[in-house]
Amino acid sequence: MKNYTFTKSQELFRRATKVIPGGIYGHYSPVVLVPPEKYPFYVSNAEGSRFRDADGNEFIDYMCAYGPMVTGYNNPVVDEAALKQLKKGNCTTGAPPVMVELAEYLVDLIFSMDWAFFAKNGGDVTNYAVMIARDATCRKKILAFKGGYHGVESWMQTPGRHGVIEEDLKHIIRLDWNDYPGLEKVVNHYENDIAGLIATPYHVPAFSDSVMPESGFWQKVEALCRKNGIVLIVDDIRHGFRLNMQGSSEYFGFKPDLVCFCKALANGYPISALMGTDALKTVVSRIFHTGSYWFSAVPMAAALANLKAMEQMQAPETMLAIGKELFSTMKRIASDYGYHLAVTGAPSMPYVRLTNDPSLMLHQDWCAECTRRGIYFTPHHNWFVSAAHTREDILQTLDVVDEAFKVIKKKYADRFRHEAPVESEKENCPY
Ligand SMILES: Cc1ncc(COP(=O)(O)O)c(C=O)c1O
Repeated sequence: MKNYTFTKSQELFRRATKVIPGGIYGHYSPVVLVPPEKYPFYVSNAEGSRFRDADGNEFIDYMCAYGPMVTGYNNPVVDEAALKQLKKGNCTTGAPPVMVELAEYLVDLIFSMDWAFFAKNGGDVTNYAVMIARDATCRKKILAFKGGYHGVESWMQTPGRHGVIEEDLKHIIRLDWNDYPGLEKVVNHYENDIAGLIATPYHVPAFSDSVMPESGFWQKVEALCRKNGIVLIVDDIRHGFRLNMQGSSEYFGFKPDLVCFCKALANGYPISALMGTDALKTVVSRIFHTGSYWFSAVPMAAALANLKAMEQMQAPETMLAIGKELFSTMKRIASDYGYHLAVTGAPSMPYVRLTNDPSLMLHQDWCAECTRRGIYFTPHHNWFVSAAHTREDILQTLDVVDEAFKVIKKKYADRFRHEAPVESEKENCPY
């Protein structure tokens, strides 16, 4: 198998550092790709489940643009709808008719929600949801879970981050995931001062295993919120349409007041959506909230076509089935080499980690060995499966996975025999 080199990526990055702060910022930064010399930084083109980097290397992509790619890069159905709309108009002086069509479609699709509001990024709508909760309740405090990510607004950040001041976080209370008694205690303590609770459907903390909600957790949280007049906000930005088509709260059997969608909505076209119940509609209409591109028609047409395509191809079920097969086989291959591969979260967006080396060097090395053979795995973020991943992709992936285990086994021999237990894996495990 060919080992890739990344000369052009590295040259582009050198040029970038002179004119772009950090070269590449945020979640695309090489800082999270360890060791960076074994990763491409620039993607030239993409098709289906694969992309080519600036050096011409081809990869089967298990990051899917960190979530937005769901029905395949350059999906002809989605692109055709987007191009058709582009020819008619995109960013114009007035809302496009397709906006109404998309809102109607979403309201029909997401049973428990009565209206839709569109923006661009996930953070636009998680931030708006918090504003709505505060305005609706005339309260200040927001509950969230430790390690939960909701975007880059200052209130969403962890204390001590650059650019964040104490006051930004003054009314944010972070709790332990799945700790219902802890949540109840905080709610009782603050009595009538909690505006909202925001959480992802299951817990996806950065650099850590994913954790499913304990049985009955969401139902208890929902009842507690109802009893205390707290607005329940589901951040479905990452999970949305990778568990089911009706919203992840439906999947886990509870009813929130507000749901935030983004990533998989339009297969990469920039759009996010906040959906909510009738009870909050008046509040939403009185809060001024907008953006220069929030009425762009092209992403709306793309979202409509993508949602229809996802429904038709039963995309969530397809992704869950692909992931289940792929990751259970990967676990078996790992164990044949004497390693333990922990796979937590849903099979359509699992967090994967070799547990034998707590320093994570072994895991990083294995991910990099897969990547430089054309299977793009990052070491410290959950991966994504798309409905465009094929049987051929799975077989090629498993070949490379096997080869990469062979390489690290030879390199480290029996140095890493320790297998750390993974608590959340047991209760999680749909594999
Ligand atoms: C769960 C969750 N919430 C919110 C966001 C923020 O979305 P965006 O980066 O589009 O603002 C993300 C982005 O990764 C996310 O995963």
